[in-house]
Amino acid sequence: MSFLIKLENISKTYLLAERQVPALKGINFTLQRGELVAIIGSSGSGKSTLMNILGLLDQCTSGRYLFADEDISHLAKDKLALIRNQKIGFIFQSFYLLPRLNALENVMLPLFYRGIPRRQAEQSAREMLDKMQVGALHDHRPTQLSGGQQQRVAIARALIGEPEVILADEATGALDSRTSHEVMDLLIHLNRHERRTIVIITHDREVSQRCQRVVTIKDGREQIS
Ligand SMILES: Nc1ncnc2c1ncn2[C@@H]1O[C@H](COP(=O)(O)OP(=O)(O)OP(=O)(O)O)[C@@H](O)[C@H]1O
Ligand SMILES: [Mg+2]
Repeated sequence: MSFLIKLENISKTYLLAERQVPALKGINFTLQRGELVAIIGSSGSGKSTLMNILGLLDQCTSGRYLFADEDISHLAKDKLALIRNQKIGFIFQSFYLLPRLNALENVMLPLFYRGIPRRQAEQSAREMLDKMQVGALHDHRPTQLSGGQQQRVAIARALIGEPEVILADEATGALDSRTSHEVMDLLIHLNRHERRTIVIITHDREVSQRCQRVVTIKDGREQIS
């Protein structure tokens, strides 16, 4: 197995009204292709900060970020956005589906941004919704879906562009335990049977115990267990 992402000595300090808030203090993290990794740690330990950096939503203050074999630490924002759009799929606790669009349109959106013709995008989105077992709900808007159904639509949206890695920040955090288990079943299936590389940030021991590898973040550093 070769690595997909390597973070070397990553630090992130937020500037808050002239006060420095160190959130990450020298993180080293290697993500192999095909891995399913959980990142755990108490509230405020730096998990979402790490996820934002991994997902190229935010830049680190110092350190080196390698994506595949490329050092992308010093790339400009537009270049990073391009990598983010093509290589990374996100799943969030609060789903972030667009309220005015129905399930099908939400899933089509990433393809639309890539300039894929509408007919082709619609076909792919239908197939992906079917795969996530919410195909029959394609014309429902987010408020007309349960939490678990919304998360399935959000996962379909994360997968539709064939990203190299899926980042999930508390993807099951807003769901009851049975629905959370089902969503985890789905992510585990995608990892095992489609060799998707997945990073899950979670508070939930039941979730992290089902991942191959667990990384614990404590006070901005990875805890060596
Ligand atoms: N935009 C910001 N500006 C200033 N400080 C921030 C910002 N975002 C996060 N922090 C601080 O950085 C630290 C890490 O925050 P982070 O959101 O990464 O924690 P977390 O592990 O995701 O916590 P939780 O489990 O509660 O989601 C915290 O001390 C937080 O207050
Ligand atoms: Mg967080």
